[in-house]
Amino acid sequence: MNSLFEPTTLAGLPLQNHIVMAPLTRNRADAMGVPKPFVRDYYAQRASAGLIISEGTQTSFAGQGYCRTPGMHTPEQIAAWKHVTDAVHARGAKMFMQFMHCGRIAHPLNRQIADAPVAPSAVKPAGQMWTDQQQLQDYPTPRAFETAELPALIEEFVTAARNAIAAGFDGVELHSANGYLLNQFLASNTNLRTDGYGTSLQGRIRFVVEVVKAVAGAIGAARTAIRVSPGHMFNDIVDANPLETHVALLDALPTADMAYVHVMLADAFSPQLNNAGDPQVLLRTLRAHIKGALIAAGNLTAESAQAHLDSGLLQLAVFGRPFIANPDLVERLKAGAPVAAPRAELFYTADAEGYSDYPALAG
Ligand SMILES: Cc1cc2nc3c(=O)[nH]c(=O)nc-3n(C[C@H](O)[C@H](O)[C@H](O)COP(=O)(O)O)c2cc1C
Repeated sequence: MNSLFEPTTLAGLPLQNHIVMAPLTRNRADAMGVPKPFVRDYYAQRASAGLIISEGTQTSFAGQGYCRTPGMHTPEQIAAWKHVTDAVHARGAKMFMQFMHCGRIAHPLNRQIADAPVAPSAVKPAGQMWTDQQQLQDYPTPRAFETAELPALIEEFVTAARNAIAAGFDGVELHSANGYLLNQFLASNTNLRTDGYGTSLQGRIRFVVEVVKAVAGAIGAARTAIRVSPGHMFNDIVDANPLETHVALLDALPTADMAYVHVMLADAFSPQLNNAGDPQVLLRTLRAHIKGALIAAGNLTAESAQAHLDSGLLQLAVFGRPFIANPDLVERLKAGAPVAAPRAELFYTADAEGYSDYPALAG
């Protein structure tokens, strides 16, 4: 059965339905990147989903860009996440951790280390970022990674992936979307490297392919996934040819053995796609280069999600914002009940309000 509400499997992992909670950064960790205790409640409340993907989580202090985001690289962080996965598993959902190294999308005030943000190339992003101390601030110009630093950077992903498995996660999703580090390697406007890790198409995809293969080698390809956002311009990404870039990337990845490829459709953050054509055509084009499961997010409804499952285009349907104010989203979609609107002003605040205090429908 391909019904949204029927069980399925994902690379051998049994899921209680075809509904996935999208990765959602909510900034409820302490200054050392340890998720606060009510993070467990928030995820457990939403664990009637088949699969939950965690918020973007750092692989090292150097990977942090935003204030109050969590990590997966200290014993305290691992212990806190173990409570989360235990509570999620107890309600039947599976859980992947999303690894987000922010690269140039970072401000020193948000970080625990003195180093400047590091990126593929020293290209300053347009725009500003929130800091708790000084509100909105311009992005600084990042330092470019030395070639000799790249093996250790890959190793950070590998160690964090092992930590995630030790903390009970069922797999990891590598965030190669939305203008963060891996996307910065892929895109032509952020990767100007001349050391074999940039400039040419094969050069720009190289680092991402090496990270995926290293993580898959450490924890298994079936526990390894990737998220991409071809054509999205969020965080000042302007790739000259996102379709060509992502087709080359997918062809170079072991997608037949990986858990899934997660594509971001046009959404509220990137309603227009840059140079990537019609979103429906884009998804079909990418599908032809993915040998395993394809999942996608972006303004889905129960109806459009079901249509994508029926056509075979998608194997799972991913919902983001609807999960924020609806801990029982699965039950509401199934019953055709109203879906509550979230309080956007509390998306990134520090406390339980607007986070773990949204009620389920009575009865
Ligand atoms: C508050 C908020 C935080 C988000 N954080 C992340 C994140 O950490 N990682 C990521 O890949 N996408 C992130 N996204 C994007 C969502 O995962 C999702 O792709 C997007 O909201 C579109 O799906 P929707 O239309 O169902 O909301 C975030 C979106 C929102 C609203």
